[in-house]
Amino acid sequence: MRLRSLLFVPGDRPDRMEKALGLDADALILDLEDAVSMEAKPAAREMTATFLRSAKRGPKLFVRINPLGSGLTDDDLEAVLDAKPDAFILPKAEGAASVEALAERAPGIPILPIATETPAAIFELGSYRGVSHLILGLTWGAEDLPAAIGATRSREEDGRYTPPYEMLRTLTLFGAHAAGVEAIETIYPAFRDLDGLAAYARRARQDGFTGMMAIHPAQVPVINAAFTPTVEELAQAQAIVDAFAANPGQGVLNFGGRMIDTPHLKQARRVLGLAEKPSP
Ligand code: COA
Ligand code: MG
Repeated sequence: MRLRSLLFVPGDRPDRMEKALGLDADALILDLEDAVSMEAKPAAREMTATFLRSAKRGPKLFVRINPLGSGLTDDDLEAVLDAKPDAFILPKAEGAASVEALAERAPGIPILPIATETPAAIFELGSYRGVSHLILGLTWGAEDLPAAIGATRSREEDGRYTPPYEMLRTLTLFGAHAAGVEAIETIYPAFRDLDGLAAYARRARQDGFTGMMAIHPAQVPVINAAFTPTVEELAQAQAIVDAFAANPGQGVLNFGGRMIDTPHLKQARRVLGLAEKPSP
């Protein structure tokens, strides 16, 4: 499954769900958590289940349930389980134990934990290796943890993360790759700033993230483009593969004045593989 862009849609907005089907998002995240007020939760559950049953084409359909321990999860699962979402997003996840707890109640449905939303969660970021068969990726957030610890910000004035959040982003990246699952970058909240988003998403892929969450339709094509290799990248990767093929038995080569060896070949194959991977 190719997961470049995952678009959030509030679970109580069927009009927006319908619209989101026609975008080029790889997945929609129908949200029952933070985008839905407490009063609207019952209606959102019903609307989300109805939409899951009716939408037969297009993107994968994921549901973000409320956190384990919120007292809301039982009702969320009861409403949407039969409608068979393609995955559950688990907010405020706290490592392998919370994944196992959800998997027991929702057998067979893959999980995408949001892995950095509580202080305790941070110390579990390495534990997802043990449940890699239950998760399809790992993602992170920079909004809930500051609120949980009384921090007043997670970003500098210019949009860069403060050091604690830069660290969480990095730990999520390596936690995902250690588990062998997709590394999904967090949202870019300034949804009108598409140039800023393009630069941010490009950096995410350069760092090793494989996809990113979105909150607005305009963000989807920008994210898809950032996580798709360019013509130049593909040509470069092909040239590296060809160079090794032309020199059988050689582990290191002079590639136009630059040394290339096994990691370069591995990366070139990965880039070519990305281009071949079909969308879901
Ligand atoms: N999914 C589908 N359609 C969306 C959408 C979304 N997430 N966000 C906006 N749209 C649609 C609007 O319905 C509107 O359609 P129209 O032109 O046919 O009326 C169009 O895109 C433009 O919307 P716009 O006016 O630019 O945005 P807004 O001010 O109405 O809404 C947000 C801004 C942030 C409230 C909205 O984008 C949103 O709800 N995003 C998801 C938030 C979320 O789920 N957060 C939880 C996780 S962080
Ligand atoms: Mg949140």
